[in-house]
Amino acid sequence: SKTKILVCRDIGDKSMAVLRAQEDWNLVIWPHDRPADKEWVYANAPGSVGMVVTLGEKVTEELVALTGPQLKVVSTMSVGVDHVELPALASRHIRLGYTPDVLTDAVADCSIMLALMASRNVTSSQTLLRSGTWGNLGWGPYLFCGPQIGAGPGKKESTVGFLGFGRISQATLVRIAAFGVTRCVYYNSGRKDRSAEDQALADKLGLKEVKRVELDELARSSDVLFTLVPGGKDTFHIVDEAFLRKMKPTSVLVNTGRGPIVDTQALVKALKEGWIWGAGLDVVEGEPNIPADHPLLHEPRCAIIPHIASATIETREAMAMLCATNLVGGLKEGKIGVEYDLS
Ligand code: GLV
Ligand code: GLV
Repeated sequence: SKTKILVCRDIGDKSMAVLRAQEDWNLVIWPHDRPADKEWVYANAPGSVGMVVTLGEKVTEELVALTGPQLKVVSTMSVGVDHVELPALASRHIRLGYTPDVLTDAVADCSIMLALMASRNVTSSQTLLRSGTWGNLGWGPYLFCGPQIGAGPGKKESTVGFLGFGRISQATLVRIAAFGVTRCVYYNSGRKDRSAEDQALADKLGLKEVKRVELDELARSSDVLFTLVPGGKDTFHIVDEAFLRKMKPTSVLVNTGRGPIVDTQALVKALKEGWIWGAGLDVVEGEPNIPADHPLLHEPRCAIIPHIASATIETREAMAMLCATNLVGGLKEGKIGVEYDLS
């Protein structure tokens, strides 16, 4: 009998062809263009040896248990794995494939876009323009002005901050250096001494310094702060009310990591009361169920987009292909091309 593979999402023609080419596989494919319903997943998972998932499907202990002991590989089309209960896989020696690296540039690009959108008041200026009433105001010397990202006239220093300093943060730093920022501070929980690397990076990018700091200093000194840490309980609400109160009133917060890193209620308060200048969000707590009356949708200094930071055609195709080849590699060759370390 054929090997059952649960495919919780059609990930595109080219990568589905890679799965379909496995003649001894029986693909059970969710037939709709939205995340698979839990009921469908639960009904179809038992007996599966491999599984393709996206962020929209939760891989819980319960699901893994009901799928059965034959499950060997889960392949997710994402860099984030907070939708997967990792101990449930680790304890059963189930392996996990994921898709880092190929999305680094796209997410970094989008992070810059959100920094600019938030600092330059794109949300409120679009609202005015689309209301058809721009003509009542005309061009104004200070209309929709916001803080400059880099140093420039009247601004000698500009500090970019990163909560988490992995691949995407560093790619974002390379980009924002070109806008004229002069310093970089970052927080990461790793204990390794990186000072030599940081100095080399500063020299390469023409910055005065790149420096690891504590959270308190990160909040206080960042003009633009990018939150690029994984989701999950370790990073839940790191950006809370106390953190936001320490930020500069001219600062911009950009979250392209995971929604729950930032406390939504505290952020709304920070925007309303001007603790920070603005926010650019690709991710938000509770997504994708964001009702039209969600407070962040009504904050003029908040630029918000629906989790599309990696959404270039090239990147998504590369993620999908990696997701497919990770599964094939894991089940056919005993080697997952890009494997998440569960140890
Ligand atoms: C996107 O958020 C991803 O984890 O790939
Ligand atoms: C703006 O459009 C300017 O001419 O300064």
